[in-house]
Amino acid sequence: MPSVQPDFDLRDRSVLITGANRGLGAALCKTILQYSPKIIHAGFRSAPGELKDPRIQWCQLDIQAPESVAEVAARVGDIDILINNAGVLLPTATDPAQELINLRTMMDVHLYAPLCLIDALLPSMQRSQHPTIVNIISMSAFVNVAGCEAYCTSKSALHAATQGLRLKHPNIACIGVYPGPTATDMTAGSPVALADPMQSARQIVAGMMAGETSIFPDPAARDVESVVGASIRALEARFATLLSE
Ligand SMILES: NC(=O)c1ccc[n+]([C@@H]2O[C@H](COP(=O)([O-])OP(=O)(O)OC[C@H]3O[C@@H](n4cnc5c(N)ncnc54)[C@H](OP(=O)(O)O)[C@@H]3O)[C@@H](O)[C@H]2O)c1
Repeated sequence: MPSVQPDFDLRDRSVLITGANRGLGAALCKTILQYSPKIIHAGFRSAPGELKDPRIQWCQLDIQAPESVAEVAARVGDIDILINNAGVLLPTATDPAQELINLRTMMDVHLYAPLCLIDALLPSMQRSQHPTIVNIISMSAFVNVAGCEAYCTSKSALHAATQGLRLKHPNIACIGVYPGPTATDMTAGSPVALADPMQSARQIVAGMMAGETSIFPDPAARDVESVVGASIRALEARFATLLSE
């Protein structure tokens, strides 16, 4: 199964991270900076984050706006690593019509927009020696959770799409990241135990460096991995060649 190249390294790489102004995206920026990247294009929708470093290039990018995606793709130059991190959690609405609107929004943010961004950056990424796509998914891709059913549905879709990307682009390392509940604005007020975003970011980067294609970066995520991890990897490998046999 395609994996990150064994000599994978972040040194001198050009990275684009969506939704980098806060939360896990900001933690990933800080962590990747410790590995001497050439540049990090740090995406923000309305206001840049607080991180200042000569290698951080704040980059206005609304992933749901095609003109914003096209403008950024034309401007950033060659990209080695794309991290699709931007996300939104709209809790389950009691009104079915509103719930459908929420589902459409989250399918857009978590599935269609990342795929459109990948398409826009593909020509530049294919020139890279180490093209890598990292999709920040969620452990809820594997198990639906009451109160955020549509969110989980959209993350399951991104999980399936990540497997599909591996099949379609064997020359690109396509990594799925499956965090558990993490202490960011997204989980403000949550009663459950929350992982520290900086610790999760360190685990994500360590997983990238180790050549993992599925990364479970915190204790809750690793609990899910202990149940589904091996079977997911085994099924993916078994079915990858099904129609070509
Ligand atoms: N926190 C958790 O418990 C948890 C668990 C599993 C997975 N995740 C996933 O981890 C990722 C990061 O989440 P987080 O916890 O860091 O959430 P967060 O603190 O709420 O940050 C979400 C980020 O996404 C950006 N964003 C949303 N829609 C966007 C759009 N259309 N274009 C560009 N940027 C957009 C936000 O930008 P603005 O500041 O402009 O709104 C913000 O930077 C998400 O994909 C999330 O689903 C989170």
